[in-house]
Amino acid sequence: MWAQKVGEQLGHPTRSVAGWLVSKFLKTYNQVLEENTVRLSGIQPGDTVLELGHGPGLGLQSAAKLLTEPTGRLIGVDYSEYMHQMASERLKELVACGKVTLHHCDVAALPLADSSVDKVFHCNCYYFWPDLKKGASEIHRVMKPGGLMVTTLRLSSVAAFAAKRVLPGENWRPEAYMAALRESGFTDVRMEDKQHKHITFQAIYATALK
Ligand SMILES: C[S@@+](CC[C@H](N)C(=O)[O-])C[C@H]1O[C@@H](n2cnc3c(N)ncnc32)[C@H](O)[C@@H]1O
Repeated sequence: MWAQKVGEQLGHPTRSVAGWLVSKFLKTYNQVLEENTVRLSGIQPGDTVLELGHGPGLGLQSAAKLLTEPTGRLIGVDYSEYMHQMASERLKELVACGKVTLHHCDVAALPLADSSVDKVFHCNCYYFWPDLKKGASEIHRVMKPGGLMVTTLRLSSVAAFAAKRVLPGENWRPEAYMAALRESGFTDVRMEDKQHKHITFQAIYATALK
């Protein structure tokens, strides 16, 4: 019962005591992963960059610093209203000047034009998507030809959460997501082990073939 409740809040935090605790956990435990995902995405100053399931917005904050050219744009999407509001508050100056746009929406229905995004990154997000193929196809649709997608996870923690039934079903398995990416038109799909100080994590890369 508790596992299901924690899983629900991790997958879709709500404005509640449980949601607040989850947001604290995300900010402390995942900051390093969010920052490393941004680093691995190879963001260029004039890129259009999209983060999926940004949660409290620490990764967005870190990506925004790299988009120093006037054409550089950052987009974030999250279907949790609570997380959308938390990130909107964190990035309010950048949202106000139009550098950052945040959408309260589902990954499976992005309000973005075809072939409009250079880099996509996400962190601890795909495990919650009910249909990985739908999510991966939607990412592929909005990416420019040759664009790079990067996602990171701490596989040992994710597997432990899945064993305790905090995560639903089998979608947490990297192989499942990588298969969905290949089926959706991505190429060079691979997972690498990474180390940052004392933390080991995994990065999944995929290039949009069009
Ligand atoms: C575990 S949290 C991770 C947040 C942040 N990326 C991090 O690592 O700290 C998962 C986030 O993805 C969002 N999310 C999950 N499924 C989503 C979907 N289908 N569409 C949009 N957002 C989604 C949730 O609302 C939540 O904010």
